[in-house]
Amino acid sequence: MPDAPPVDPTRTADPTPPVDPRVDPPPTVDLTTAELHGSLEDPALTSMNFLNEITSRFPRALSFAPGRPVERFFDLESVHERLRTFTRHLTEERGLSPEEANRLLCQYGRTKGVVHDLVVRHLARDQGLRVDPEAVVVTVGCQEAMFLVLRALRASERDVLLSVSPMYVGLTGAARLVDLPVLPVAAGPAGIDLDDLTATIRAARARGLRPRACYVMPDFANPSGLSIDLDRRRALLALAEREDILLLEDNPYGVFHGGDGTPPTLKALDTGRRVVHLGSFAKTVLPGARVGYAVADQRVRSADGGTGLFADQLSKIKSMITVNTSPISQAVVGGALIEHDFSLERANARERAIYRDNLERLLAGLRSRFGAHPGISWNVPAGGFFVCVTVPFTVDDALLEHSARRHGVLWTPMSHFYSDTGGTDALRLSISSLSGAAIDEGLDRLAALFAEQGH
Ligand SMILES: Cc1ncc(COP(=O)(O)O)c(C=O)c1O
Repeated sequence: MPDAPPVDPTRTADPTPPVDPRVDPPPTVDLTTAELHGSLEDPALTSMNFLNEITSRFPRALSFAPGRPVERFFDLESVHERLRTFTRHLTEERGLSPEEANRLLCQYGRTKGVVHDLVVRHLARDQGLRVDPEAVVVTVGCQEAMFLVLRALRASERDVLLSVSPMYVGLTGAARLVDLPVLPVAAGPAGIDLDDLTATIRAARARGLRPRACYVMPDFANPSGLSIDLDRRRALLALAEREDILLLEDNPYGVFHGGDGTPPTLKALDTGRRVVHLGSFAKTVLPGARVGYAVADQRVRSADGGTGLFADQLSKIKSMITVNTSPISQAVVGGALIEHDFSLERANARERAIYRDNLERLLAGLRSRFGAHPGISWNVPAGGFFVCVTVPFTVDDALLEHSARRHGVLWTPMSHFYSDTGGTDALRLSISSLSGAAIDEGLDRLAALFAEQGH
């Protein structure tokens, strides 16, 4: 069964009446973006809204666009059950009275979170990681974790971040918000080009800049789908040590491997506290809960000579942004972790099977439709949500709009993931929201679009 009914390509859902300049005088303005923060004119900040907006304007289009988890298993009753599970955990395992449990869930709470110990048990179970619970900051999604880390690292105008390119737009936007320039590092075919990373760091230093960290997604990266093998992970850690930078490891898709597992995370291999590990429960538990976390075990010396954890510095920033992550949301995630014996691998057995089948179906469909076409190519990820297709014509927002309107199929232009002019010959296909026949139908529509472009 397709996820959406066949689309009438000429129909749009846009209810906004056109502006008639004879009747509607130009609006007076109260502010201009020139007098607001510079990031507000940055394409990175409009990218997510543009992609959401086009999805909502063409609700009947088949969509390879979003990195959203499958919705089939969303169930409000299980949310209630998880709240009850976590509440029982508070009274039975942590020894809280019912009144104290009530307060913990309903009142303002600990800035670094109330499920930090459960996150630690999950990291031990699924990643073999040993983490001090005090080094964990539970955040409003991974997005907040990224923002906290970047805000903390951006100390002066000399500071720059490095990121494997193409890069996740949430990272680029967060960096822009804190005035931290991002220097792209080539992904190459192996997920990160270490020679380019070294060269970029040294070139930046030669210009008087101070590279602070490199953002990297070692498993099934968004958007490239690439993964980094074990030897290269070790070499990356050695490079970080040698060049004295941190690694920001983002890992929302590692659970969704095709069955062969993944190499240890960078944090699991990290013996020198070089890695700040960023986590999200959006794909593995519930996106609507908006819970993520940072593991920040770096030791920080303060001006008064005292030492503490980087997590505590992040906590100070968090206290001024979101105060604390909703304890009710944390309880839903905590309950899910307890119910699955702290293994998100186990909790996502059904989802993993769906994503694996979808990925196989998409790759088979690409082969059968475009395998003989010399100008069209794609990578073959071993898991995750994303496949990149390279084509011999220009791919931009206008083509996406046309694709939605004329052919009823959505995808993401890769140019959204480049800070320069890259990506104009490629598109990202996500396998997470469509299934079975809808993937085939979506690929037929994509083939019609490609044929119309002369391919
Ligand atoms: C690479 C990457 N990092 C972080 C996030 C954001 O995670 P969260 O929803 O927990 O803020 C996403 C979401 O799509 C992502 O793809």
